[in-house]
Amino acid sequence: MKIIQVKDYDALSERACSFLVERINELENPVLGLATGSTPEGLYKQIIKKYNQGKVSFQQVKTFNLDEYVGIERTDPNSYYYFMKDKLFDHIDISLDNVQIPNGIAPDLRQECEEYEEAIQAAGEIDIQVLGIGANGHIGFNEPRTSFTSRTQVADLEASTIEANSRFFHSIEEVPTQAISMGIETIMESKEILLLISGENKAEALATLLTCDVTEEVPASVLKKHSNVTIIADEAACSVMN
Ligand code: F6R
Repeated sequence: MKIIQVKDYDALSERACSFLVERINELENPVLGLATGSTPEGLYKQIIKKYNQGKVSFQQVKTFNLDEYVGIERTDPNSYYYFMKDKLFDHIDISLDNVQIPNGIAPDLRQECEEYEEAIQAAGEIDIQVLGIGANGHIGFNEPRTSFTSRTQVADLEASTIEANSRFFHSIEEVPTQAISMGIETIMESKEILLLISGENKAEALATLLTCDVTEEVPASVLKKHSNVTIIADEAACSVMN
């Protein structure tokens, strides 16, 4: 894993944007894996800026999001579908036909997971997968002790994840307890991975990731077995390491 340390969140967002735009411009039909949450918001703002400057186009880009809450309509502002449209897709020239996000209200969730896997396979591999990390080391919604051989599945969220994500909801009771998430094996099949880590509240997670053995107790530790991972972390996230 290669680590790029930057000063702060703005620098992280800019660096991640240059990284991604460079790849998009290099590839003929880029397939991107995308994340939601607070961490990539700045990256998406930077991408929109680059798009408006005519430096990147998404006409040939396909995207797959990591996850979606179970039981939330796409029109709900807390759905990851809504998040992605609001923060990125509505502001760039991507066709929504090329955008894939699991459907958290599918009548048959197991079938939805299978079809999601099939859609990823049909698109070829994911060229570059953007990840954030949970304070508990999760990637996607693959919580500690999720099997490294997991594929897209319905995941139960840990109490700490529900609490962390309750900041987006009116009350903690409204936070879904399950999500459809790409599996760990699915994520590991991406050709390249860009892990973004920002803020003091992620410092322990980063320090643990760098020092621990590869273990299902720390889902992100699996990334040590991937041959092409870049971590961009800001100074606050590196504060326990330094
Ligand atoms: C989001 C996702 C999660 C987040 C993680 C960090 O699609 O899969 O793993 O990346 O929970 O979230 P933030 O960035 O809000 O701290």
